[in-house]
This record gives sequence, structure tokens and C-alpha cells, in this order.
Amino acid sequence: MNNYTTIRVNTSKQYDVLVCNGSLAEIGAVVANQFDKCRIAILTDDIVNSLYADTVTESLQQNGFSCVKYIFPNGERSKNINTVLGFINFLAAEQITRSDLILALGGGVVGDMAGFASAIYQRGIRYIQVPTTLLAAVDSSVGGKTAVDISAGKNLIGAFHQPSLVICDTATLETLPANILRDGYAEVIKYGVILDKKLFDILSRSTKGNPEEIIARCISIKRDVVTADEFDKGERQLLNFGHTLGHSIELLSNFTITHGEAVAKGMVIAAKLGKECGYADVVEPIKNIVEMYGFDTSCPYSAEQLYRVSLSDKKRQKEKITIVIPESVGKCILHTIPTEELLSLLNRIKL
Ligand code: NAD
Ligand code: GLY
Repeated sequence: MNNYTTIRVNTSKQYDVLVCNGSLAEIGAVVANQFDKCRIAILTDDIVNSLYADTVTESLQQNGFSCVKYIFPNGERSKNINTVLGFINFLAAEQITRSDLILALGGGVVGDMAGFASAIYQRGIRYIQVPTTLLAAVDSSVGGKTAVDISAGKNLIGAFHQPSLVICDTATLETLPANILRDGYAEVIKYGVILDKKLFDILSRSTKGNPEEIIARCISIKRDVVTADEFDKGERQLLNFGHTLGHSIELLSNFTITHGEAVAKGMVIAAKLGKECGYADVVEPIKNIVEMYGFDTSCPYSAEQLYRVSLSDKKRQKEKITIVIPESVGKCILHTIPTEELLSLLNRIKL
């Protein structure tokens, strides 16, 4: 067996996140270490299916698991209730029971839907996350947020349902298109800014850092945050650094600006808002690092446009909105302001 970095997550359910280069080929043995033989229903998209599903299925079968697989067209447009219903009907037709397992093989879209289906099928079944994008490895596969999109907005239907195991093979990142890998780095940089100055420094030194070390570091931070606030009542909102305005930018662009690109712009705007509120001036280091990773930090929208769309953010509470603001690199705080103050702040900064 390969050497794994193991991060134990102690939420309402305890589980391990295992990180290793080359883990997919021996995933059957890894799963057999933790679970009795059962049936495994794999959810994946068409691209990931063609790249990795055979390796995973063969390894699981060699270790005594029997597998069935449901494939959907890749992309955010598939992340809806119809795909989940299709998968759930498939689980029922295959007579998958609560003593079986669901396995999410893919990026955040696969993971969010497999997690949601696992939360609701037969009132809850165990699932394993096998992330194959950097974003999924450092963020969506850990912490138990599961969801689908509806026309009114992203992730508006969902449930908290922790996975039973996460297995991350860093070798899968090698087949990622450059723009999708870069999107993941926006989240990695986010962890550095919110809670880990040392990670920020590692990332600032070179864009070619050790993926296993970087991913394990990010997961450890996420583990600490979700352990402290599993149900997103407080501290977990720190993970939204760059996301409130990032989501507005994504929406305003009709998703032609990707999530990572939008978060990169959102982090720079949040730093400017922090400076305007009288906190430290960390605009330059944040702008520099996101540009170093190839992001454009300009904002093509006006203060009024950003404000109007951010009002529909599901994290808004009545007449107040919480923004995540850096006090320094490696330390962010939650700053709750009346919604109209956000407009005034956005009008005062240079976007
Ligand atoms: P994704 O799952 O759509 O993957 C992006 C693209 O990469 C897809 O076309 C996919 O087929 C392809 N792909 C995946 N792995 C590949 C590989 N190894 N090689 C080549 N191509 C590969 O998107 P994503 O960026 O991974 O995730 C975005 C989703 O994650 C969003 O829906 C977002 O809401 C969600 N998310 C959830 C959480 C959470 O906590 N649950 C956190 C952050 C984001
Ligand atoms: N990705 C944000 C969270 O898990 O809370």
C-alpha cells in the first residue's frame, strides 16, 4: 500500500481524509480496510468516467465489492434535482440498501449530488468522496455540505451529510484542464488568507508547490473549521472569503466568469472593503498572489450591480449581510453590516 497522509475529521460523524499520489489503483484495498464487503453505487460524470472509472471499479471488484455505475453529462448544468432523481431511481432499481455505499468519483458537481442523494435516499446512506478536481479535493469533498441548484440560485436545495471516507488521489490533477486547475487554486489561496500565513508564503514562493502537501494543509484547515462549526452558524462562514461578491460576479457574468475567477476578484474586493472599514491594508499581497496564479483581478461590474445581486445571497440575514474581511494575511474576521452600508462601501472603493 502507498503512504497516505491521513486527516481525521471529528464532526457528528468521524471520518478520515486520505491523500496520496496513486491511490485510485488501490482504492479497493483502502475501502476494504474500513468497510465490510457490500455493493457500491458509483456516481460520476462522462469525462471522469472515461478517465478513471475503470481503474476504480476494477480495484473495488478485486477486493470483493460489487459495483454499479450512474453517469451524467459533466458540468454545473447537470447539478439539479432531475439528475439526483435519476440517480435515486437507479439506486432503487439496483436495490441498493442502507448497508451499501455510494461513491462520488469526480469534481464538486459529482460530490455535491452524490452527497445529497446519500442524505435523502432511504433517509440516509453512507458515501465515499473521491475528488478528482483541486477544488473538490480542498473544499467540496470535506465538510458534508451537499446540494443541487435550482433556477432561483446555486445550492438552494441541500443537506448537511458528512461522508464516511474521503480518498484523494493527487495524480488525478494531472489530467485537469489548466483553467479548472487554476479555479482550484483560488480556493487554496483563500485558505492561506483566512487562516494560514505559512501556506500563503508557500504559495507566494512558487506556483509549483507539492500538491499533496498543499492539499493536506488546506484539508486540515477545513477540518478545523467544520469541526468547530459543522452547521455553518459562525466560524465556518470564514470559508466564504471572496465568495459573497464572487458569487455576484459569477451570476452577473451568466457564468462566463468561472467560480475560481470570480472568487479571485471577490477576494481582492473584500481586501479593499477591509481597508475601507479601517482594517489592515492587505490589498497588494492578495492582488499579487492571485495574479501570480494567472487570475485577472479587474471587476467588470459597478458597485450598484454587485450590491443588487449580493442581496440575493443566501447568507444574507434580513437587513444585514456578513462579509469576510482580512485583518491581516492569515487572519480573517466576519464583519456584519447593514446591507445599505455595503453599497456605500462598494461605492467608496476603486473596483
Ligand atoms: P466539476 O465537478 O464540474 O468539475 C469541473 C470539470 O472538470 C468537469 O467538466 C469535470 O468533468 C472535469 N474533471 C473533473 N475531474 C477531472 C480530472 N481529473 N481530469 C479532467 N477533467 C476532470 O466542478 P468543480 O470545480 O470540481 O466543482 C464545482 C462545484 O463544487 C460547484 O457546483 C460548487 O457549488 C461546488 N462546491 C461545493 C462545496 C461544498 O462544500 N459542498 C464547496 C465548493 C464548491
Ligand atoms: N465551501 C464552504 C463550506 O464548506 O462551508
